[in-house]
Amino acid sequence: MNVADSEVVMSVLKDEGFCYTGEPGNADLILINTCSIRENAEQKIWARLKALAYLKKKNKTLKIGLIGCMAERLREKVLETEKVVDLVVGPDAYRSLPGLIAEAESGHKAVNVILSAEETYADIAPVRMDKNGVSAFISIMRGCNNMCAYCVVPYVRGAERSRDPETIVNEARALFRAGYREVTLLGQNVNSFRWKNGEKEILFPDLLEAVALIDPKLRVRFSTSHPKDISDSLLMTIAKHQNICRHIHLPAQSGSTRILKLMNRGYTREWYMDRIRAIKEMIPGCSVSTDMIAGFCTETEDDHLESLSLMEWAGYDFAYMFRYSERPGTSAARRLKDDVPEEVKLRRLNEIIAMQNRLSAASKKQDIGKTVEVLIEGSSKRSADHLSGRTSQNKVVVFPRGINKPGEYVSVFIEKATSATLTGRLAE
Ligand code: 5AD
Ligand code: SF4
Repeated sequence: MNVADSEVVMSVLKDEGFCYTGEPGNADLILINTCSIRENAEQKIWARLKALAYLKKKNKTLKIGLIGCMAERLREKVLETEKVVDLVVGPDAYRSLPGLIAEAESGHKAVNVILSAEETYADIAPVRMDKNGVSAFISIMRGCNNMCAYCVVPYVRGAERSRDPETIVNEARALFRAGYREVTLLGQNVNSFRWKNGEKEILFPDLLEAVALIDPKLRVRFSTSHPKDISDSLLMTIAKHQNICRHIHLPAQSGSTRILKLMNRGYTREWYMDRIRAIKEMIPGCSVSTDMIAGFCTETEDDHLESLSLMEWAGYDFAYMFRYSERPGTSAARRLKDDVPEEVKLRRLNEIIAMQNRLSAASKKQDIGKTVEVLIEGSSKRSADHLSGRTSQNKVVVFPRGINKPGEYVSVFIEKATSATLTGRLAE
C-alpha cells in the first residue's frame, strides 16, 4: 500500500517539476512515507529522522517531510519533538503537497492531516518506482471500515472508499501496453470494492474480470481478502480466468473462535475453514497465505494451539507473522488488557514461525519434478547468471539465464526447493 502511495506522491511532485534521486545527500526534499500498523514500524522512523538530521546541517535548504499513517496519528508529537521535520502530511492530503512545500520553504511548519471520505487519487497516474518493469501495484480502494480490535488502519487511513473502476482498468491497460505483465490490485479489503454506475453496481469480481480480460498475458493478483466476505462468486471468477493468479492471501489472524470474536474479525474458525475448503475445491492448485498474530489480549495456551492447528490444517504456502503490539486509540487498547507477557508472545510467535517454515518447505517440495510457468521478473539477487520470477501460486523460482528476458513467460522444470525458493532449469 505504501509503495502505491509513494508512487502517487511522486506523480504529484513530478507535475511540479521535482525529480527523484535515490541519494538522500543530493536531495532538496526528503519525504518519509510511514506506517503505523505495528509499534516497531514507528520506532524505525524515529531512528531514521535522527539519522537524517545531519543532512540538514550540510544542506541548509533541505526540507524533510513525514507523510502517511504516522503523520496522521502523531502530528503533534512529531512537530513538538522532531525539529528536523518541516512538513507533516496525512494519506489523504497528497494533492496539497505543492502548496505545503512552498509553505515549508517560507520557513513555516506545514501540516495537512485531514482525512477525506472521497479521495482515491483516481485520476493520478502513479510514477512507477518498482524498477523491474514487469509487475506493478494498482490501488483500487482506500481506508477500511472493518474495525478489527487491534488495528489502527481505520483511524489513520479513514473510511473505506472505492476508486472508479474505469480508471483502474485504464491504468492496468496502460501498464500492459508499457510492457508490464502483472498487476496486483490493492486494498485493505478488496472484497468490499463497490462502485455504483447508474443502476448497475460493480463489485470486486466484476472489476477483477474486467482487468483479467485486458489480455491473457497479463497476470492479475489482488490483496488483501477478508475471510468474512470472500464470496463464491469471487472464487468462480478466479477459476474462470487462467491469468488470475492461483494465490489467495486470506489472513486468519488466529485459529481460536474466542480470540477472533475479541478481535472483532466477524468470522469463526469453522467459517474460515469452510472458505479454505471452497478455495481448494473451486480453484484446484490455488495457494493460500495468511497473517497470524501471536499473543493477542487474553490468548491462552489452548488458543495458541488452535492457531497452530489451523495453520497445519490449512497447509499455508506462506505467512506474515507478528506478535501483538497494542496500538493507542484502538478498541483493544481501550477495552482489553494487553496481558500476555512479552516473553510468552515471543515464544508463541517463534512456534508459529517454526510451523510456517515446515509448511513452506512442504509446499515447495511438492513442486519438485513438476514443470511450472514462470513470469520472469529479473536477475536473481544471489547470482547474475540466474533469472528469477514467480509462478501463478506466487512461489519464487530461480533458474540459469538463457536468452529469455524479464516480462517473458517460460516453463521451468523444478529440481530443488528450499522453504523460500524453487530452483530448476528451462524445460524443453
Ligand atoms: N499487532 C500485531 N499485528 C498487527 N497487525 C495489524 N495490527 C497489528 C497489531 N496491533 C497485522 C495483522 C494484519 C497485518 C497487516 O498486520 O496481521 O493483517
Ligand atoms: Fe485493519 Fe482489519 Fe481493516 Fe485489515 S481489515 S486494515 S486488519 S481493520
